Amino acid sequence: MYPVEIGKLKLRNFIYNAAGVWDTTTSQLGDLTSSPYCGAITTKSCTIVPRKGNNYPKYHFTSTFSINSNGLENMGLDYYLNYKSHKPIFYSIGGLSDTERIQMLETTFDLERDNIGVELNLSCPNLGTCGPAYKSHTLIESLRKIFEAVGRPTHTFGLKLPPYFIPEDFRSIADVLDAYKNTIDFITCINSVPNAVDFDINNDMPTIVPNGGYGGLGGATILPIALSNVKHFADIFKEDKIDIAVIGCGGVTTGADVYKHRLAGATAVQVGTHLWQNGPDIFRQLHDEYYLIMQRKGF
Ligand code: DHB
Repeated sequence: MYPVEIGKLKLRNFIYNAAGVWDTTTSQLGDLTSSPYCGAITTKSCTIVPRKGNNYPKYHFTSTFSINSNGLENMGLDYYLNYKSHKPIFYSIGGLSDTERIQMLETTFDLERDNIGVELNLSCPNLGTCGPAYKSHTLIESLRKIFEAVGRPTHTFGLKLPPYFIPEDFRSIADVLDAYKNTIDFITCINSVPNAVDFDINNDMPTIVPNGGYGGLGGATILPIALSNVKHFADIFKEDKIDIAVIGCGGVTTGADVYKHRLAGATAVQVGTHLWQNGPDIFRQLHDEYYLIMQRKGF
């Protein structure tokens, strides 16, 4: 086990699920709770009331990537708040507007419970418009509104960010985060890469139905993009003495990939597509492979 602290939370191991993967129902959450090497639990990004999400087929998997356009199918905030685990739980707060996000954050911050945190998801790519974290001016506006309304978070608090690609964007987003460094404990980099499409050549159509076939790209293909995002933010935070942890998410299928996220500067590592395709046994596999690498390096 490789214990880690994120904000006020203590995780027995630093690897756990990415929001949206194996986390929609209590049965799936139970699998994560009983999987010894899964260090925490993230719940499916949610809304106040349950949602059916987009029509099927809305997931597409190949050996190297996945595309999803789930459309925020979830059981509603209360369902997740009622799920109890001995492990730290990060509630992924989705929502369709800042007003809805504020309401959900107020409810969550009011909970007098230890061992919980919030990962505010401002980067969903599948709701017609992409979330406010895609651009620094929309991010600043959302965070201003949200923190004016809810005040200082009472629980460990972080943001799920989309991928960025150019130095100007890393800089301008880091400047926004700098202004909230006493409020934000962590950022999770990255959400899926937006607006990817693949084709089914048997019927000459995109492989998924919603949004014209466009969805969020995940899986091994996005590892270098995820590592770049982790490294850019981790380097800027170190240089500017900004005390925000970076959680790596994207492209992890092996212990070596986990180790690469650590080299990039990740404090903890989340797993999406690989968990989706292979189930919670992957936490043991990743741990064992990572352990061998650490041993080889003499740690
Ligand atoms: C969904 C996808 C995401 O990448 C996300 O961050 C939130 C929701 C979805 O389609 O349900």
